[in-house]
Amino acid sequence: MKILVLNGPNLNMLGIREKGIYGNETYEDLVRFIEETANEEGIEVEIVQSNHEGALVDRIQQAYFDKTEGIVINPAAYTHTSVAILDALKAVNLPAVEVHISDVSQREDFRQISYAGKACVKTIMGKGFLGYKEAMLFLLERSNGEGK
Ligand code: DQA
Repeated sequence: MKILVLNGPNLNMLGIREKGIYGNETYEDLVRFIEETANEEGIEVEIVQSNHEGALVDRIQQAYFDKTEGIVINPAAYTHTSVAILDALKAVNLPAVEVHISDVSQREDFRQISYAGKACVKTIMGKGFLGYKEAMLFLLERSNGEGK
């Protein structure tokens, strides 16, 4: 199975930014963790991070044409603002799982709306890096189920 993992703005600052919320591990640690999970499970993975909304939209659109079968997306702050990312996810119509490292349900009011989440089959929050693994396994099981 081919999965795209997309990370939005400031996630490249993991290990530096708000450690009390996001932890001490770095973005490179996250990439390694996702790659290890992919190797263990026989998943083909591409991991992309961008601080730019349009670049995230472009990469989602590309997924329609490059045989991506599922998307794991942490749109970060764009979760709460971006109709463009929501529309891109709807446009490609691939199964997508929304992941947040922190438990956004327990945070500020402005984080309580998720636009991207409206186009996702599942949302995982507050589980740190493990949320990405759970999302990948969910997509894998879902695609195996559909193959039967
Ligand atoms: C985040 C939560 C968002 O509200 C925030 O803007 C982020 C990271 C998370 O992974 O917990 O940048 O998506």
